[in-house]
Amino acid sequence: MPTIQEHMYNSRIAGLGFYVPENVVTNDDLSKLMDTSDEWIQERTGIKERRHIIKGEETTSSMGVKAAKMAISNAGLTPDDIDFIVFATLSPDYYFPGPGVMVQRDLEMKTVGAVDIRNQCSGFVYGISLADQYIKTGMYENVLVIGSELHSTGLDMTTRGRDVSVIFGDGAGSVVLRREENLEKGILSSHLHSEGQHAEELSVIAPAMGTRWVTDILEANDPDDTSYFPYMNGKFVFKNAVVRFSEVIREGLEKNNLGVEDIDMLIPHQANLRIAQFIQKKFKLSDDQVYNNIMYYGNTTAASIPIALTEAWQKGKIKDGDLVILAAFGSGFTWGSVVIRW
Ligand code: UT7
Repeated sequence: MPTIQEHMYNSRIAGLGFYVPENVVTNDDLSKLMDTSDEWIQERTGIKERRHIIKGEETTSSMGVKAAKMAISNAGLTPDDIDFIVFATLSPDYYFPGPGVMVQRDLEMKTVGAVDIRNQCSGFVYGISLADQYIKTGMYENVLVIGSELHSTGLDMTTRGRDVSVIFGDGAGSVVLRREENLEKGILSSHLHSEGQHAEELSVIAPAMGTRWVTDILEANDPDDTSYFPYMNGKFVFKNAVVRFSEVIREGLEKNNLGVEDIDMLIPHQANLRIAQFIQKKFKLSDDQVYNNIMYYGNTTAASIPIALTEAWQKGKIKDGDLVILAAFGSGFTWGSVVIRW
């Protein structure tokens, strides 16, 4: 594999943005719908609350567009400057087309290319890796990467679905990657993996539908058929997650001849606070070296890393020259990491 020095260009994160719906759903709110408790949810996941859209007010693409607008404006650009769109989600508005084209339409952009990524929790990491390759080869200058997720309309909000439904939240995050000739800074490397042997351990098995219509279809569905809802073998996913997170972070460090002590900020996919804490402890990182916000947003799948990255950056927790690592694991199984010199 070519090293960064063999490229003429590097990609830097030039702008960041995120959007979450205003509607806060607390653990106590969920306790009114199903047999669960604030104590159980906080103890097992760290989640205190999450955001759910008001049905009909937002879609996956509309939230993505809001996050993208912020990222483009923070980069000092206009939608006309964007050369390519990468949209990661497991909950597209329609079964097809994917939401990438809706960003092109709603931001009134030129007829630039748009690609949709279906890699669930690792979707944003895959998206950054893809965008980075287009930039490093010199093909594009400014690439918009979005992760957006609308979970709330497709979850089983009864006791039957409680092990999954309490975890997930709605939201979107976005970055603009910009081509630069400074090879010292920007995306140093990305590392992607999959293991389809475990495809069914975290999945929606039934024929997919767009999240705009999912509730209507479920209402007409056999009430005992759970195949339309996400299924997760929680303990098995948890065990695999901690192993793969560790491996892929180490892989990224080794590729760049760096060590754990070089990490300034780790942004783990916000799957479960207990997973992030396990990794933090294993790598002996301080609270300042790991950013978590799952307590307030739940697990927003492809949106979780860009939301957390944007928040950490807004709070001044990421400084020029810092070594920032993004790492994700989820359905597929798929996992990956991105090593960034900020
Ligand atoms: O983002 C993609 C990657 N996803 C992940 O990494 C998630 C990984 N897995 C997890 O985070 C955890 O496995 C969960 C949070 C999903 C579940 O925690 P757990 O400690 O593995 O619990 P469990 O599923 O083994 O359930 C323990 C008990 C069960 O009751 P019994 O059989 O012991 O009587 C469940 O029925 O807790 C019960 N339970 C609940 N109780 C109250 C399951 N969900 C709930 C709930 N409220 N929401």
